Amino acid sequence: MIPNVDNDSIVYLNGDLVRLGDAKISVLDRGFIFGDGIYDVVPAYKGKPFRMGDHLTRLERSLAAIQIDTGRTRQDWEDLVTDMLRRSPHENTMIYIQVTRGVAKRDHAFPADAVPTVLCMASAFSRPGPAQREQGLTAIAVPDIRWLRCEIKSISLLGNVLAKQQAVQAGVDEVLQFRDGYLTEGASCNIWIVQNGTLIGPPLDNRILEGIRYRFLEQLASEAGIPFESRPIAEHEVDDCEEVMMTSATKEVLPIVQFNGKPVGAGTPGPIYAKLRVAYDDILEASHG
Ligand code: PDD
Repeated sequence: MIPNVDNDSIVYLNGDLVRLGDAKISVLDRGFIFGDGIYDVVPAYKGKPFRMGDHLTRLERSLAAIQIDTGRTRQDWEDLVTDMLRRSPHENTMIYIQVTRGVAKRDHAFPADAVPTVLCMASAFSRPGPAQREQGLTAIAVPDIRWLRCEIKSISLLGNVLAKQQAVQAGVDEVLQFRDGYLTEGASCNIWIVQNGTLIGPPLDNRILEGIRYRFLEQLASEAGIPFESRPIAEHEVDDCEEVMMTSATKEVLPIVQFNGKPVGAGTPGPIYAKLRVAYDDILEASHG
């Protein structure tokens, strides 16, 4: 029995559908031994995936970046997501897909003939409630100690795990990671600031994951007439900005109202966040309502 999960839910593992509580992989799986794999998380509302194409493009990009060939087509991935969603009893479901290089004798170099391990699971997620939307989140700064290929959605998440634990131990909701004095991202989300009414996100390079909500927020900003810039953000700019917000598949867009113990702007969710929040909700309502 695994605590805090639905052990009876069905997961897809290498072509089979098995109970989560019974799903097993080899101790020699390279995901377990080396963290040699990638993943993605597709959110779905009322049984319909949100931005599935973008998520699957990123999944394929991550696979190509670490040279894993599953032989699966885009249609195969879409069918897998759709099938898992059909089985999900939840109003809002997150589909987790993980691919590792497979099972092989422990040796750092790629094995010649390993078959990639493919896992897909569906679980419930709750949309952020009024407390998070209206009161906002708190965050602290931490050094970004991760590797230099953060654009790959790697399952090797130790740096992210240690970052998130610092938030927990400091009694705040999130961390903002900084590398060489510049903002990168949260432990599992992208971070944005607002300065003089302009929405600013860190550049899309090897230091951050391109969240599916990165381009999406840019699109929402453009439609709402909010100026947008993608450029390096120095730590002092975060200290002095008008608003900070975060985006991720399950948190959507949320305001960060306190940073390093000090209020961000007025210490309440700001007007740019409010506009983007409404725009996000409207698009979801129109496509999944
Ligand atoms: N995390 N940056 C990092 C490091 C992330 O792990 C995530 C997502 C994001 C936001 O990406 P998106 O908008 O595509 O969700 C940015 C997922 C949700 C997770 O690890 O569970």
